Amino acid sequence: MTPPHTDTRAPFTLEWLNRTDDALVLQWLDGVYEHSLWVAQAALAHRPFRSLAHLKWVLADSVAQAGHEQQLALIKAHPMLAAKPVSGLTTESQTEQRLAGLWQATAAQSRQLQDLNRTYLQSFGWPFIIAVRGPRGLGLTPQAILQELERRLEASPSDEFAECLRQIHRIAETRLNDKCGTRPEPGGEVWDWHQWLARFSDPGFAEKGELSVSYLTAAHQACAQTLVLGMRACGFDEVFVDAVGNVVGRYHPARPGAKYVLTGSHYDTVRNGGKYDGRLGIFVPMACVRELVRKGKRLQAGLEVVAFAEEEGQRYKATFLASSALTGEFRQEWLDQLDADGVSMHEAMRRAGLNPADIPAIQRDPSHYLGFVEVHIEQGPVLNSLNLPLGIVTSINGSLRYLIDITGTASHAGTSPMHQRRDAVAAFAEWAVYAEERARADGNSVATVGMLNVPQGSINVVPGLCRCSLDLRAPFDAQRDAMAQDILKKLQTVCEQRGLQWQIEETVRAAAAPSDPGLQQRWEKTVTEIGLPVHRMPSGAGHDAMKLHNILPQAMLFVRGENQGISHNPLECTTADDLQLAIHALLLLMHSFIC
Ligand code: GLV
Ligand code: MN
Ligand code: MN
Repeated sequence: MTPPHTDTRAPFTLEWLNRTDDALVLQWLDGVYEHSLWVAQAALAHRPFRSLAHLKWVLADSVAQAGHEQQLALIKAHPMLAAKPVSGLTTESQTEQRLAGLWQATAAQSRQLQDLNRTYLQSFGWPFIIAVRGPRGLGLTPQAILQELERRLEASPSDEFAECLRQIHRIAETRLNDKCGTRPEPGGEVWDWHQWLARFSDPGFAEKGELSVSYLTAAHQACAQTLVLGMRACGFDEVFVDAVGNVVGRYHPARPGAKYVLTGSHYDTVRNGGKYDGRLGIFVPMACVRELVRKGKRLQAGLEVVAFAEEEGQRYKATFLASSALTGEFRQEWLDQLDADGVSMHEAMRRAGLNPADIPAIQRDPSHYLGFVEVHIEQGPVLNSLNLPLGIVTSINGSLRYLIDITGTASHAGTSPMHQRRDAVAAFAEWAVYAEERARADGNSVATVGMLNVPQGSINVVPGLCRCSLDLRAPFDAQRDAMAQDILKKLQTVCEQRGLQWQIEETVRAAAAPSDPGLQQRWEKTVTEIGLPVHRMPSGAGHDAMKLHNILPQAMLFVRGENQGISHNPLECTTADDLQLAIHALLLLMHSFIC
């Protein structure tokens, strides 16, 4: 059976799929799910397919509805990954394995693959499955495949079962793309932009191949310059770096004086972070502008893209520096804060060629904007487990951050009797366990101690000082505040009982930010137009949008993450296809503004 078309420039012919009789369509879908035509059979009941994205979702959902036994059979229907051609491989598998360069694996790699495959099969009872075309769709190297195999051997059987199914859907996605003669471009290029920007990383991390970009370091400034060049190449009308280090690009509206949609996200990262957190929300709108420029098209609304310089709070105590500057909440006293090396924020700005005196002038006038939208990788497992590429954010959880010192008395570890110690770490431990329990009791609150230090600690000294951070988040400010009150009261009690002192500094207070109903509905409409079900969800992570919320209506769109949605971790990942859908969604959203 010939596919409906093979011309890579031609659009996907949904009409053929929706009009042709079952037997022919099944024949065409055969091989998308390895030796498992039942998946396509189940999906046929859901015709008409609204788009290729819808077809992919319906197929994945058919598997989700099928139950454990059938899912296991689907996993087992896949061949063991081999480093050389073996008989019985489907044509699709052969092409994929060749693309991954598996057949060029060295003898040592080939042996390692066999050994790991065997161990994997023994551990889980099914073959290791990976979409060897990878998240970009162009093929993983043998080395990358082996690394994944080793890593996934450590997973729990239930996580690994889910991961195999996700990989199977990804294999199906690339097979369907091939059948339809379509490639996720510019999604693939945008995926490449993330790799390109990730080559800049701070000293201490770069050497280890880790990504870390803190506010105004050399790597941070290199990112800003790269973004300036990138925005210019996309065809923005204006590109500049502002007083706080934001890279701003403006694409003017068709009619001078019309309002702008403000969008963007941050380009700083956490230490050893992922490549997509923040950056995705810069690159997706950049790709949209490039598409519009290529078509010579102006929209009724202008688009202003801000690559925010600081959101992660890695270098200074204060955070959301970049978005606070836009909302007029940047506090002058922050400039005196020192980083770990004693460099003040003021000095760091001066060295980077920024003039802090100009910060008040970059405050935005809300009357020039229709609202703020932010596209962001989900940073959680929800969309991944639902087989959905896009999700609609209903609100962003409110957060509070503190730096805390617990002070006891340093004394000899050998001679201080247990009942006569004033041990700062033991007090910390008792309190930290309570913080965990208190957050858990709410069901949807979270409490995290992400930094912990025993300054000048020694192996044979009872700790006299314990320095830590506390990050609290909840969907409502009142819920967050009640949790904070209980956790700080417990700290008081523990310290009193143990004869210790404590000091606390509140470094961040960000209000919960419900999405603007009108903007949220616009996102929902775009997702529906793309042919996907609308899934609404809160954001546990903080975002620049929660600051912009203070001056503008805001709403966010989430993009599915791979590896069960892990984030703030180098395994954070998304696919070219999901990026493609995000670009499509933002373009549709932009077209929806009539002004
Ligand atoms: C930002 O990534 C945050 O939620 O901490
Ligand atoms: Mn982050
Ligand atoms: Mn982020």
